[in-house]
Amino acid sequence: MIIVFGSINLDLVTEVPHIPAPGETVIGPGFRTIPGGKGANQAVAAARSGARVAFVGAVGRDDFGTLALRSLAGSGVDLAGVARVDTPTGVAFISVDAQGENAIVVAAGANYAVDASRLAALAAPPGSVLLLQREIRDEALFAAVHLAGQRGWRTMLNAAPSGRVPDDILRRIDTLIVNEHEAQHVAREAGLTAADAHGAAQELHRSYGLTVVVTVGADGVVAFRDGVIHRQPAPRVEAIDTTAAGDSFVGSFAAAMDEGRPFAEALRRGVVAGSLACTRAGAQDSIPDRAAIDAWVDRA
Ligand code: RIB
Repeated sequence: MIIVFGSINLDLVTEVPHIPAPGETVIGPGFRTIPGGKGANQAVAAARSGARVAFVGAVGRDDFGTLALRSLAGSGVDLAGVARVDTPTGVAFISVDAQGENAIVVAAGANYAVDASRLAALAAPPGSVLLLQREIRDEALFAAVHLAGQRGWRTMLNAAPSGRVPDDILRRIDTLIVNEHEAQHVAREAGLTAADAHGAAQELHRSYGLTVVVTVGADGVVAFRDGVIHRQPAPRVEAIDTTAAGDSFVGSFAAAMDEGRPFAEALRRGVVAGSLACTRAGAQDSIPDRAAIDAWVDRA
């Protein structure tokens, strides 16, 4: 079983000729409203990959919250742990440029009302995977990691958006998933020195004994586990929108690990899911299902 303790957003997406510089205004032709949020996207990715997924989080008592929950429920995610609160649902303002790259501003809203009490009430067996991101308050995140230790849950932290992860948390989690920028940020904040992102990930792995997975965009992933380096290249696809590609990787990778697949196979399935997410627009709209992942893994 996978428990996602994290954010739910509604994404307000505009296609722009280029990402605006500070002080610049750019005009796009249209505007779309798509369910998103790193936690929700990862939950959808894990559920579409075949995992049993329970979500613990919060949305507002507004239409955005209703839309966001409909998408999660439609993918089979258990929402008994989601609170409806007086604070408005989280919103992400997303610009996507002609190359499919994006810039995102998040208004946390109800996500900052999330605390670990609903997580503590969840009856998930030891060995369950607790999947975390950094779009809720640090205190809630840290309490969840401590609770996971008491319950015997395995912990995966996707340290996105980038930020400091305290020493105590790095010692407690099992798997850290980061992009190159996040790898360097987390290592620097932990007082580790490294010339590049791979060095940073290797140092984190050596110093804390945790598995570190670094996503490297179109090049796939590099991972450090039990002293072994794993490299998994990505299939070549025509990217039209990279939004939620990382979330798609994380959710599908977590689902494969939860199923007991070998680590290298879980990386491969995650990478395929992330690449496929780039071929469609939007966050949850772009996340592939198990059949699509199977087809691409077989072809590879
Ligand atoms: O990782 C992509 C997500 O980041 C978007 O769906 C947006 O909601 C932000 O949280």
